[in-house]
Amino acid sequence: MIIGIANDHAGYKLKNNIIIFLEKELNFKNIINFGSDTDDSVDYPDYAKKVINAIEKNKINIGILICGTGIGMSICANRNKHIRAALCINTEYAKLAREHNDANVLVLGARYISFEKAKGIIKTFLNSKFQKSRHLNRVNKINLSH
Ligand code: RB5
Repeated sequence: MIIGIANDHAGYKLKNNIIIFLEKELNFKNIINFGSDTDDSVDYPDYAKKVINAIEKNKINIGILICGTGIGMSICANRNKHIRAALCINTEYAKLAREHNDANVLVLGARYISFEKAKGIIKTFLNSKFQKSRHLNRVNKINLSH
């Protein structure tokens, strides 16, 4: 699995901690960091697009997008027909986003969750699988609506 991660200035610090967590604690080797890598103010759509493009081109399988609330990144990501982005505020959301919605992008609001909370959300998201069954038909309908 290849994970792509991007953020705006509000998500920069959390992103750095998340990359260390993925590499050191979860032992993920394939992580692509699409920036931003400073505290300087940037526009979140520019960074959402980097992860969206990478999923479209099959360069990554799962995306993680971080901004202040997670809302701007979610809006941008979900405009693309290949993306099912889920703004997750707890582990239950993360589990259900994968199991029911086959979400391929996890969105986090850096100003509203702690690093500890983010770790649980990420671990759950990555360890949960799409359940298909009745949910497959629903996800197919999402794909058809674009
Ligand atoms: C940046 O101040 C903030 O607007 C952005 O990180 C995000 O929360 C937008 O949805």
